[in-house]
Amino acid sequence: MEAKVTRGGHDTIRAMVWTTEGLRLIDQRALPAAEQWLLLTNPAAVAQAIREMVVRGAPAIGITAAYGVVLSAREHFARTPAQWRQSMEDDMRMLAAARPTAVNLVWALQRMRECAHRIAGGVDPVPALLEEASAIHAADVAANRAMGRLGAAFIPPGCSVLTHCNTGSLATGGYGTALGVIRRAWHDGLLRHVYADETRPWLQGSRLTAWELLRDDIPVTLIAEGAAAYLMKLGRVQWVVVGADRVAANGDVANKIGTYSLAVTARRHGVRFMVVAPSSTLDMQAPDGEAIPIENRPETEVLTLSGQAVAASGARAWNPAFDITPAELIDVIVTERGVVEAPDSARMAALNG
Ligand code: MRU
Repeated sequence: MEAKVTRGGHDTIRAMVWTTEGLRLIDQRALPAAEQWLLLTNPAAVAQAIREMVVRGAPAIGITAAYGVVLSAREHFARTPAQWRQSMEDDMRMLAAARPTAVNLVWALQRMRECAHRIAGGVDPVPALLEEASAIHAADVAANRAMGRLGAAFIPPGCSVLTHCNTGSLATGGYGTALGVIRRAWHDGLLRHVYADETRPWLQGSRLTAWELLRDDIPVTLIAEGAAAYLMKLGRVQWVVVGADRVAANGDVANKIGTYSLAVTARRHGVRFMVVAPSSTLDMQAPDGEAIPIENRPETEVLTLSGQAVAASGARAWNPAFDITPAELIDVIVTERGVVEAPDSARMAALNG
């Protein structure tokens, strides 16, 4: 299976494909060294893939979980047709627990649950649930394209941007959030230079963002996170463009660890700060960033690199996967429903409706 398909417009990568056998995922742990596809045929395998970062990125996790529900219904309807709903609920709890910060995961599961409730007793649930999961997937790509257009409108010609983590086709249904804006701005000839943080400890920037952009013919320059302040001081970037795992009702944003320090540094240097996230990433139940659960990941991710120890033996590590950027440091939040400049509770509420 090939991750790259002809689609044009600097948009050729897809990270997940549904087939009659099950869900195929490109193994993001192996990139860029190897392009390996895994076939997942049951919900436990899907939960494990999310937990272990075969697939990552908030929207991609949600879409993957939705397909996981289809696999659950298929398995349980075949085994005990009268009880598939109860067994599917158990699987949904398992899927929801796989990673805590990205709200897209529980959002997608709730959509699948509501779809399941509409299915009449005795009817094979798989076609309706597959249609719903595919609709979630397609809507995400459409949202990304809309956000690409809305976000690129803020980018002046000749601008250079810095991005963090991986927010592209690998992290979404396709096209990407922050990388969608960068794809669109590049396509429109607006960008001079794209810089990407390498994004320790998982190296989503150097392994995934660089792979994805180069595959789509967009040149990229990697920097160590520690170089960002100096890059800004030298006036080499005008916008920081990042994604989100969860946006609270007041516009505070949870995103990959290191996002907060980029926002602080950007404000210090007069560099503008854009967050790009679909409405499935908004959590209006969380009043502010304090209410967002932050995932702590194993120490080994910091202490080792590609399985090799890089730290002094005996050193401990603290490894929060995300941090909170306060709304006051954000110039604009871009969603497919519209943009919110200088976000606060009132402007976020107005966007929602
Ligand atoms: O730990 P990860 O790789 O799942 O973290 C991903 C991010 O922080 C992304 O910026 C976020 O999910 C937005 S992806 C469109």
